[in-house]
Amino acid sequence: MSLITNPRDKLILALDGMDSREVFALLEKLPDLRWVKVGLELFVSAGPQIISDLREHGLSVFLDLKFHDIPITMAGACRKAARTGASLISVHASAGRDALLEAKAAASEGAAEVGLTAPSLLAVTVLTSWNAKKFSDQLFIDQPLQKRVEFLSVLASESDMDGCICSPLEVSALRRIHPASFELVTPGIRMKDSDLNDDQVRVLSPSEAISQGASRLVVGRPITYALQPAVAFERFVKELECNYFD
Ligand code: C5P
Repeated sequence: MSLITNPRDKLILALDGMDSREVFALLEKLPDLRWVKVGLELFVSAGPQIISDLREHGLSVFLDLKFHDIPITMAGACRKAARTGASLISVHASAGRDALLEAKAAASEGAAEVGLTAPSLLAVTVLTSWNAKKFSDQLFIDQPLQKRVEFLSVLASESDMDGCICSPLEVSALRRIHPASFELVTPGIRMKDSDLNDDQVRVLSPSEAISQGASRLVVGRPITYALQPAVAFERFVKELECNYFD
């Protein structure tokens, strides 16, 4: 179903809770890793240089800063982010159509200015920290959460976004709406025999997420906190290979 054929390109390692020295110590143990996610914490502590350093290490970077601002600021941030060589960049769909369209155009221009391929922009719909009660109590929004997620994903696809970040709870419903070329990137992934969900509200196994329509998976602690990170990484890759890449 997905257009991505190498299972290693389906697995993005979330580099949370580490400084850059710890990140590179971990990466030494993961020579077959191809994708990493840089979130707010690492970006704020290490600065944009971390993206160049990771790229020089041979990795593709998902820059997960979830931009949400007025159109001109979104566009400026995405232009600069694209110039760093990030391949995937996240924004909030709720920034609105103008902001998303301008962000996408600026990202493509920014990459072209330095001779790079345009990055894909991925829209966040509703963060997993929200639930229906909080939405109603704090934001006075009574629309069912699932409907809002679907609505924002359509706004994103109509505003030139390349895909959405979605929770395991949402992936199958969103895949029914969007074609295989629209990325659905899903965190909340755990192996079936894992007894640790950490703070993930709902989890799926790698094969469940892919079979429900996820194009890529974001996995962090099951690999970064593993006693043998390379063994944990290979288990994830093997599950993807066995199920979908015969
Ligand atoms: O739990 P894990 O370490 O695999 O988290 C991977 C990614 O999932 C994190 O970088 C974060 O973006 C996302 N996450 C989430 N909801 C949570 C916890 C993490 O969407 N409750």
